[in-house]
Amino acid sequence: MENESDQISTDLTMKQKLRDDIRECWHCSRETKEKFVPGRTKIQYAGAEYDEKEIIAMLDAILDGWFGVGKFSHRFENQFSGFLGAQESILVNSGSSANLIAVSALMSHQFPGQLQRGDEIISPAVTFPTTFNPLIQNGLRPVLLDVNPSTYNIDAEDLEKAVSPRTRGIMIPHTLGNPNEMDTIMDFARDHDLVVVEDSCDALGSTYKGKHVGTFGDAGTFSFYVAHQMTLGEGGAVVTGDPDLEPILRSIRDWGRACVCPVCRVSLDPDYRCPLRFQFETDTLPDDYDKRYVYTNIGYNLKPVEFQAAMGLEQLKKLPRFIAARKSNFSRLFEFFEGYSDYFTLPEALPGSDPAWFSFVLTVRENAPFSRKDIVMWLEQHNIETRLLFAGNIIRQPAYEHVDCRVVGELENSDRIMRNAFFIGVYPGLTDEHLAYIMDTVRTFMHKATGEGGAP
Ligand SMILES: Cc1ncc(COP(=O)(O)O)c(C=O)c1O
Repeated sequence: MENESDQISTDLTMKQKLRDDIRECWHCSRETKEKFVPGRTKIQYAGAEYDEKEIIAMLDAILDGWFGVGKFSHRFENQFSGFLGAQESILVNSGSSANLIAVSALMSHQFPGQLQRGDEIISPAVTFPTTFNPLIQNGLRPVLLDVNPSTYNIDAEDLEKAVSPRTRGIMIPHTLGNPNEMDTIMDFARDHDLVVVEDSCDALGSTYKGKHVGTFGDAGTFSFYVAHQMTLGEGGAVVTGDPDLEPILRSIRDWGRACVCPVCRVSLDPDYRCPLRFQFETDTLPDDYDKRYVYTNIGYNLKPVEFQAAMGLEQLKKLPRFIAARKSNFSRLFEFFEGYSDYFTLPEALPGSDPAWFSFVLTVRENAPFSRKDIVMWLEQHNIETRLLFAGNIIRQPAYEHVDCRVVGELENSDRIMRNAFFIGVYPGLTDEHLAYIMDTVRTFMHKATGEGGAP
């Protein structure tokens, strides 16, 4: 019979063997991976970039035997805050959940500036559904602004046109990774006493005047879905520098519970016994009521699982490389498409911003001798993935027909984007061969469609 130390040693040896096997299996699968064949291999617009390190990290977390939010999530939150220069991060199971808890927390009775149902929140018409939905779900009234045709974000000076005595906040996505004009927006918010939520789900690593997007407003949200700058498979986070907001965000993520202190929530010390657990005083509950079952907010369960966080810790190490690759791929596509600027509106970043682009977006000009459908079909037929700019002008989507919102102006650019914009990828999985093939394919299309020669 093995003694305890023999058992530990066997356990460690078996775990090491598992890790070695995974490493070998991963390298083997890489070697047999199909080589790129132009026209036959699909060029994705995005995809998870990972290797055996993520798989081993997830395995270690699984073997650890604690699946709920625990030490890996805690470590991830700290490191993610460190990367962004944020005070606090709250890990959730998606970017949509991040938006939902961010907006819901601002409606909490515990938040000193509590928003009320019917309050107005300014947001762009071109948006992602789950940027917009938390406003509706919380009974807030969206006020929709048109977007700029080149940045795909609102023009900050248009905020003045949207504000009313009921305006209490601004909810802005940094569209496709392109930072909004955050200094003007924050000044405006301060002057009008508005809360700001930055949906940075597409914009991890983008900066404005040297500061990470997501860290300007009351809350910033991120998505770790595979299409984004780094991935946990699925996942998201909210960052905040507001000490009032942080426990509310955690509470709403965790069923609305009162108990969100760091020691209890992370189970870092299995021997720790919370001295307040049976002494949590409220006016309405029995005085011995277990604090773990006291609810101070209307919440959900939007928690991640531990192996997502374990994957995230490995992805964070690679994030600077991912961001650099996105910027470089974007620049190469921009240089190429500049030769066709008579036919496309090219994406534009504001002075002072440094986007970690989500994708390369183009809007076919109204006078072009071809339509968006023509070029999108051509690219798709040649196995180059395309996507449209999410919901486009969201109020034209069937689900939003009867939503109560206030529209400022005519939303002409938003409609044009809905009709004519599309994007292709810039993700780190794109190789020189992929980019060359994309450019060749576009060159041939442009020659056919316009009669012009190749791009300069
Ligand atoms: C701007 C924006 N917000 C929110 C989301 C939702 O993120 P998730 O897919 O992680 O729920 C997305 C998704 O890509 C997005 O692009």
